[in-house]
Amino acid sequence: MQIPNYEKARRRSHEEVLVRDFEMNANYSKLGLNKKYYLKTYGCQMNEHDSENIKGMLDKMSFKETLDMKDADVILLNTCSIRENAHNKAFGMLGRIKHLKNEKKDLIVGLCGCMAQEVGVVEEILKKYKFVNFVFGTHNLDDLPKLLANSFKDSKLNVEVYSMEGDIVENMPVTRVSKYKAYVNIIYGCDKFCTYCIVPYTRGKQRSRHKEDIIKEVKELVRDGYQEVTLLGQNVNAYGKDLYDDYELADLLVDVAKTNIPRIRFLTSHPWDFSEKLIEVIKNYDNILNFVHLPVQSGSNRILKLMGRRYTRESYKELYDKLRSIPNISITTDIIVGFPGETEEDFNDTLDLVNYCKYDSAFTFIYSPRENTPASRLEDKVPLEEKEQRLYKLNELINKYSKESNLKMVGNTYLVLCEGYSTKEGMLFGYTETNKLVNFKGSIDAIGKIVKVKILDAKSFSLDGEIVE
Ligand code: 5AD
Ligand code: SF4
Repeated sequence: MQIPNYEKARRRSHEEVLVRDFEMNANYSKLGLNKKYYLKTYGCQMNEHDSENIKGMLDKMSFKETLDMKDADVILLNTCSIRENAHNKAFGMLGRIKHLKNEKKDLIVGLCGCMAQEVGVVEEILKKYKFVNFVFGTHNLDDLPKLLANSFKDSKLNVEVYSMEGDIVENMPVTRVSKYKAYVNIIYGCDKFCTYCIVPYTRGKQRSRHKEDIIKEVKELVRDGYQEVTLLGQNVNAYGKDLYDDYELADLLVDVAKTNIPRIRFLTSHPWDFSEKLIEVIKNYDNILNFVHLPVQSGSNRILKLMGRRYTRESYKELYDKLRSIPNISITTDIIVGFPGETEEDFNDTLDLVNYCKYDSAFTFIYSPRENTPASRLEDKVPLEEKEQRLYKLNELINKYSKESNLKMVGNTYLVLCEGYSTKEGMLFGYTETNKLVNFKGSIDAIGKIVKVKILDAKSFSLDGEIVE
């Protein structure tokens, strides 16, 4: 039993991070024969990609996936801590699973992901959800086969959560959701410690993967016919700082571009570490897509300071203008409203900045206090209703600019990676280089290919079009 500890989670050791290969006890390879698993994933792309590794391990153990929870022998929840609602959803799910477990005593239930790293969550599971078989954290994903094997032998709740980051494990098994686009981790953890954010505690110290390992993975994806990679990290712009003296994200992007993968994206950027070199590289390489997600969080300098973001609205605008000078670039953002003490004036500064930037789209959130974070200890007098009104107003403005940016595309033709059938009957769907969702008419041969699509109509969140030769 190993439970989480915030003291350890906050620490940033200067010790070198070990890199090792994934290993699995050969005895586990038949453990899942004739057994099914149900995996539910909450949260960001990092979690989605961790779930692809979880599926990879389960496949290696001979389990089959089911999309029907009632049909499963093993249920796994890969959880998210970023805001309270993600939390509530996972606990709601545990409530439903409790009923299933009453009917099916040998059902195995595991919980992992960011919530597993939270002291309060683990305490609650130990008290109220004892039917859970095992809990493991973000630093020991590769322990899953062992934990699962043990829970077939012993039904007692086992918690194995490490608060200090572990090694970087290479060559993890992976079962990717898509055959055409792939996530590739380049950096784990985050050292920014924005005052509202739980990630530096749940994901640990910033650790870059070695460039050779990343390039090897991308080359394998090219060999397998992948059309697009998204290089992932909580703060990809910090890539390399912990490993190299003279090799940063811009250099990595150039090396990835040279593999000739048709499309490269990278997520998420912190404005603080965005270098001139990176802007040049985006400009100069056709397969590095003109798309940047650049979270601003707030337009008020007072709030940015309280958030610990280390930039001002003026310096953000300067960076934004440089990026906007790249032809046809699409820029998106994240914004939090209702940070403790946010006044009407602060909020108006955010609206003002949105009016300046005219983002292509944005994710917007109401501030949610997270356990153990500095912001959660600040006095917060703004009533929830007020915060909801601010969010509504902000969303109206964001949607207006999204629609305007989409309308500008009508009548023009863009390259779209066709991913499959759309939810709209008889249509296909895919994303432009600038990450806009397009539903379009075309033949099924287009699936998995980059095709030319003429845009016929625009909405706030998607475009309609047709394939042109
Ligand atoms: N409350 C609300 N939103 C948050 N985010 C991170 N932490 C919080 C929080 N405590 C948002 C930020 C971040 C995105 C992934 O989630 O906008 O960029
Ligand atoms: Fe959280 Fe800030 Fe790190 Fe992003 S940069 S993961 S918001 S601490």
